[in-house]
Amino acid sequence: MALRNILKENEPVLREKCFEVTLFNERLGVTLDDMIETMFAADGVGLAAPQVGIPKRMCVVSVDGKTIYELINPVITKTAGTQKGIEGCLSIPGKHGMVERPKTVWVEAKDRYGNTKEYKVSDLTAVAFCHEIDHLDGVLYVDKVIGDLKE
Ligand code: CO
Repeated sequence: MALRNILKENEPVLREKCFEVTLFNERLGVTLDDMIETMFAADGVGLAAPQVGIPKRMCVVSVDGKTIYELINPVITKTAGTQKGIEGCLSIPGKHGMVERPKTVWVEAKDRYGNTKEYKVSDLTAVAFCHEIDHLDGVLYVDKVIGDLKE
């Protein structure tokens, strides 16, 4: 495994609509393992492929440091409720802001082997899923901040 360089806000790849993953091969697994290692090393709760320069629809999330979600070609199929919370992003260091997100989300995604999985997550994990899935469409949380972005 290897740490990947986390790209910062001004990198164009962070504003791209990412491509679907079509090849579920060994290389994909290596990339995902690197993303997980990079996320933990940076003390993040999520990391999307474009943040490490890969314009593909995949991200990793781990809010508690134990349960690790790998979401490949994720689609939010349903949401319920709303919550407001403070978000930050590894690509926008030193800043944070208030964002409204669904309280619960249902997500369909592939795993690294190409199997279809369904997830229902709430609270912080739902925030992380939404934040990371937004990255796959070139959307950053700063686009959605309520009020001011704080330093
Ligand atoms: Co982010």
